[in-house]
Amino acid sequence: MSLRRTKIVATLGPASSSPEKIAELIKAGMNVARLNFSHGSADEHRQRARLVRDIAAEQGQHVALLGDLQGPKIRIGRFAEGPIKLDVGDHFRLSTSHGLNDGTQDIVGLDYPALVEDCRAGDELLLDDGRVVLLVESVGRDEVRCKVTTGGPLSNNKGINRRGGGLSAPALTDKDRADINLAAELQMEYVAVSFPRDAADMELARKLLRDAESDAWLVAKIERAEAVADDVALDGLIQASDAVMVARGDLGVEIGDAELVGIQKHIISRARKQNKTVITATQMMESMITSPLPTRAEVSDVANAALDYTDAVMLSAETAAGSYPVEAVEAMDRVCRGAERQPVSKRSGHRLYQEFERCDETIALAAMYAGNHYPGVTAIITLTESGYTPLIMSRIRSHLPIFALSPNSQTLGRVSLMRGVQAIRFNPAEMAASDINQAAVNCLLQAGHVQPGDWVILTKGDVYNSRGGTNSMKLLHVGERLV
Ligand code: G6P
Ligand code: MG
Repeated sequence: MSLRRTKIVATLGPASSSPEKIAELIKAGMNVARLNFSHGSADEHRQRARLVRDIAAEQGQHVALLGDLQGPKIRIGRFAEGPIKLDVGDHFRLSTSHGLNDGTQDIVGLDYPALVEDCRAGDELLLDDGRVVLLVESVGRDEVRCKVTTGGPLSNNKGINRRGGGLSAPALTDKDRADINLAAELQMEYVAVSFPRDAADMELARKLLRDAESDAWLVAKIERAEAVADDVALDGLIQASDAVMVARGDLGVEIGDAELVGIQKHIISRARKQNKTVITATQMMESMITSPLPTRAEVSDVANAALDYTDAVMLSAETAAGSYPVEAVEAMDRVCRGAERQPVSKRSGHRLYQEFERCDETIALAAMYAGNHYPGVTAIITLTESGYTPLIMSRIRSHLPIFALSPNSQTLGRVSLMRGVQAIRFNPAEMAASDINQAAVNCLLQAGHVQPGDWVILTKGDVYNSRGGTNSMKLLHVGERLV
């Protein structure tokens, strides 16, 4: 069976944390396990991380860990006597002085003193991802007085967004700082920052990670209206990150569902153009929380993201808390493979008319163009220290699998998120320089990825196990004696 190019991120939670379930998820095709720091204790995350590492190793697979920081989501407090129900036309107050546990039918407390400065009469506030909508009628010294325009049940700790964005708590909370240390302790390959406003938020997260001695790659979750207001804002965030997530839950609430799909396509394309990986997230297989089969609309959503060349598609509650976590990964696997069989152009136009900036980029891109244009080539092999060379390669559209060979476990996890890239453990330092090409090709032969008579393209540098040094590509004829 051919290798799936689009990667699958699956969130672990109560429905998917037993050794058996994790083993099944990996078998079904989970490439990245997401640990959501908004839920669960540090010890629960430690245990899940350990199980993923152990079981992936048993299965001979590389699975990355992605830690998703909770971020400064603004939430209402709790209700004294259980959930309330708001009807259209009801009056309701959000108060910064009311007790956080003392919510009633008329008022609820909220731990965000700036609310009264951030809100104006006429603003729309969206609670619980927009299930309840409040229109601000007036703003007092310590409360915002609203009228309900979309009614529904409201329970403890539900999130608040403002239509159009602009509720601006700082991006990293004390809890996020503690979770950054946990991500470092668990040697996570990726850490996602929630609600970043700009590059400075990402740089702070990067500094905290480096201080904790982690070299995790950073994912910016694009989920504020401000982040997509114009290309300068969006590009700034993308550039400050290693990967981005189209976080459609909060983003959809802030910008409205009408704009969401167009913006999703735009983010995918901008991220890839700037040499970053991109994850498409939220409600992709939502009905599979309670059903073993996806709807046609969900199939179409996943397939379209794959056709748009997202690196990865993501499952949240489907795998964390749903009744069919393994089936959800299987469904994504099936749908992505189907989409990839469509004859998407293998002649990529990416950077065709641009100058390249670095020697290793030039080799990486040249290898892909050569592979795409020379019939008979069946695989690309790249020796990599950090994952950078396969990242550059995988920005180019191609039908060819890219095999990233590295001795470094973090790198093998990291490349597992990249579209079309397969990780293989390989240490050139263990062999004579003249044996490396043959040994690399043998890895692929043994796994059945290539046959005698195929051509493969291999890239590497003159110095082994050091990043940034790729300066050669070679076309190798499988089956001949290679030097
Ligand atoms: C390995 C190879 C080097 C190559 C490097 C590229 O370490 O042994 O010859 O230069 O990968 O690594 P990079 O992190 O830049 O992809
Ligand atoms: Mg979110």
